[in-house]
Amino acid sequence: MKTVRDYIRTIPDFPEKGVMFRDVTTLFGNARGFRMAVDQLLHPYAGLRFDKVVALDARGFILGGAVAHQLSAGFVPIRKKGKLPFATLEEEYQLEYGQAVVEIHEDAIEPGEKVLLVDDLLATGGTAAAGIRLIERLGGEIIGCAFIIDLPDLGGRARLEELGMSVHALCSFEGE
Ligand code: PRP
Repeated sequence: MKTVRDYIRTIPDFPEKGVMFRDVTTLFGNARGFRMAVDQLLHPYAGLRFDKVVALDARGFILGGAVAHQLSAGFVPIRKKGKLPFATLEEEYQLEYGQAVVEIHEDAIEPGEKVLLVDDLLATGGTAAAGIRLIERLGGEIIGCAFIIDLPDLGGRARLEELGMSVHALCSFEGE
């Protein structure tokens, strides 16, 4: 039987030489694979109540909408700077070269709301850490951070766990 990991396609040397790009379009594009990914992502949280699912721009949105629907929770996007129309909070994070900024609407989460953070991939954890800061600044209580793919060589899981987060990933690609 195929696992979630089996549906992920690897493209060598994309977007630049030496990078093994983990392509989740082949997972999302397969009816069985997509359902399996959403179901397995939610598995550790069975019986818990969430107010909001927060997802990270842009591939995280594909997953986040489906997860929010399944949990009967609201959906909140964290977007790259300049895309959200209302008043925002922003956080900077480090890219391989330079910096980037993500934003959340200032009224997207009420203090005390229970939040699940989701994204397709955890690499250095810089994007997720910026998302965590935004959610916490709004007073949200992060119950878990869930990803399809973990790249442990890049240290993201350790970084989020140091921030006190509970991290769930469906599969990992290591030393490849
Ligand atoms: C990818 C991925 C995560 C992030 C992980 O997104 O979807 O959001 O990188 O990297 P990190 O753990 O090192 O921060 P990307 O910024 O490529 O945006 P996209 O989803 O819009 O392609």
